[in-house]
Amino acid sequence: MSPFLLTRTLPEDATEAALRADVHQGLTRTPKTLPPKWFYDAHGSELFEQITALPEYYPTRAEREILIARAGEAAAATGARTLVELGSGSSEKTRYLIDALTGLHTYVPVDVSESALTQAGQALVAERPDLNVHALIADFTAALTLPDTPGPRLVAFLGGTIGNLLPAERATFLALVRGLLSPGDTVLLGTDLVKDEEVLVRAYDDAAGVTAAFNKNVLSVVNRELGADFAPDAFDHVALWDTANEWIEMRLRSRTEQTVKIPALDLAVDFGAGEELRTEISAKFRREGVRSELSVAGLELSHWWTDREGRFALSLSVAR
Ligand code: SAH
Ligand code: AVI
Repeated sequence: MSPFLLTRTLPEDATEAALRADVHQGLTRTPKTLPPKWFYDAHGSELFEQITALPEYYPTRAEREILIARAGEAAAATGARTLVELGSGSSEKTRYLIDALTGLHTYVPVDVSESALTQAGQALVAERPDLNVHALIADFTAALTLPDTPGPRLVAFLGGTIGNLLPAERATFLALVRGLLSPGDTVLLGTDLVKDEEVLVRAYDDAAGVTAAFNKNVLSVVNRELGADFAPDAFDHVALWDTANEWIEMRLRSRTEQTVKIPALDLAVDFGAGEELRTEISAKFRREGVRSELSVAGLELSHWWTDREGRFALSLSVAR
């Protein structure tokens, strides 16, 4: 195998068809929604990286702290020869894990963002020419075909990205992940934890406005890909804590009554003044909930590590 391979698992026109279907479905229902995976074009991936450095956005720092402390323990418990990472982004924190996995044969980063995969993969093989990197441009909510590489297999899903799936989507997703594994294979899962509302809301509504720009970027993606005429500044960024569901919700609130045209869908979408479009949920977890969701999918929680302030958890679970 050459050290860096990039495979597109879906043709580009299938990705556009998926965007068209999601936009049509999401903008013709009440309330309006768009799935968060469309944030991540090259600009959105760059904005997310800026978010991870914001003083208000603690999850990346908290998870890095855990990885620095626990990557050795996690690596020893898995003995993984293949590391598959879902929603790998910059793969920056993953380096602690990769370096700790002494018998690692292949790293398989999986992401919808081609720019993130290319940058991360090239940087990694430059530093670790001994490692095979087989990147997959793919949607992790759909069935994945992984390269045929030696086990044991470890699937890492870091950053708390599982929280961006609705509960029913999480159950389907975890079952798919279990389907990628043999008994004894492992999953390393990052989950942000329930905490003080003020801390949570600030993390999603930062003073510099980077999260607002990230949120509005989805409108620019729809403009570019489907010829729509969204004016991103005609919408306000909204981040609120939903106490009942224990999730942060990001929305875009229309400042005025307006009609947006989406020529590729032959669609005109009316927004009332103050009408909100939901662009993301970011669920926050408790240990028992994580244990139970993993267990339903056939994954047994074996380790639970948090940062010193108890803000974020990394869990290791084993396929039954
Ligand atoms: N794991 C990294 C990045 C988190 S950002 C970290 O912890 O910092 C979320 C990443 O998941 C982005 O790179 C985004 O492109 C990717 N992503 C979001 N939805 C996805 C989907 N449905 N399928 C594949 N990748 C997805
Ligand atoms: C990728 N994901 C875990 C981030 C989160 O915190 O839910 C995405 C994000 N949205 C706004 N800020 C960051």
